[in-house]
Amino acid sequence: MSQPRILLLGPPGAGKGTQSGNIVEAYGVEHVTTGDALRANKDMDISDMDTEYDTPREYMEQGDLVPDAVVNAIVEEALTSADGFVLDGYPRNLDQAAELEGMTDLDVVISLSVSTEELVDRLTGRRVCDDCGENYHVEFDQPDEEGVCDECGGELIQRDDDNEEAVRNRLDVFEENTAPVVDHYRDHDGFVDVDGEGSLDEVWSAIDDAIESRT
Ligand code: AP5
Repeated sequence: MSQPRILLLGPPGAGKGTQSGNIVEAYGVEHVTTGDALRANKDMDISDMDTEYDTPREYMEQGDLVPDAVVNAIVEEALTSADGFVLDGYPRNLDQAAELEGMTDLDVVISLSVSTEELVDRLTGRRVCDDCGENYHVEFDQPDEEGVCDECGGELIQRDDDNEEAVRNRLDVFEENTAPVVDHYRDHDGFVDVDGEGSLDEVWSAIDDAIESRT
């Protein structure tokens, strides 16, 4: 069988980026993430797409969704070259879900659930490597040396949208736009709900079992 095509859904801070790393390592698939792709292109000129702001940066710093036309193009290009993948951060509304259905089939759809206050703690305490993007947490997932990435020695920084105001807006945007996407996929044959509140290893074990049982 070819490599699995996995969709990882969940609110901001649910652990999508962290667990995608485990999936990539275990299954050799590509990590397709709109968040990282947009962060790498925050200042690209999107004014020709008739958008409210001229770059993704303004949307992202407030925690609002970047216009669909921008993200649809990113995902379509990434999926064209991927054999198997774990898709993280897309689709975030029902229009994006309809676009995705035109691009590819999915083998496994995992929905991670975590309570709101735990999400706020995770996001405001998250630190990311400025060089390689590895995730850490000031309490739950500390590097060996404070402020320094274990993987590459890069500097650990706080993301612009990980302050409490932006985090609460991101959670509201999720409830309004993305929770209906999760419900939409509940009828998919490969759908599985995973409790995202356990330890990193417990959540990984549940995800690994879900992928094994559906591929
Ligand atoms: P994006 O980068 O996708 O952010 P997000 O969805 O808000 O998700 P996060 O990356 O914040 O969280 P995560 O679930 O990956 O959690 P993580 O593993 O890091 O998007 C950013 C912005 O880009 C959006 O706001 C929007 O503006 C734009 N955008 C992106 N996609 C878009 C789209 N499709 N359409 C329109 N706009 C789009 O974990 C969080 C922390 O918790 C870490 O510190 C980690 O160490 C810790 N942690 C993880 N798991 C556990 C655990 N089990 N126990 C304890 N701690 C844990």
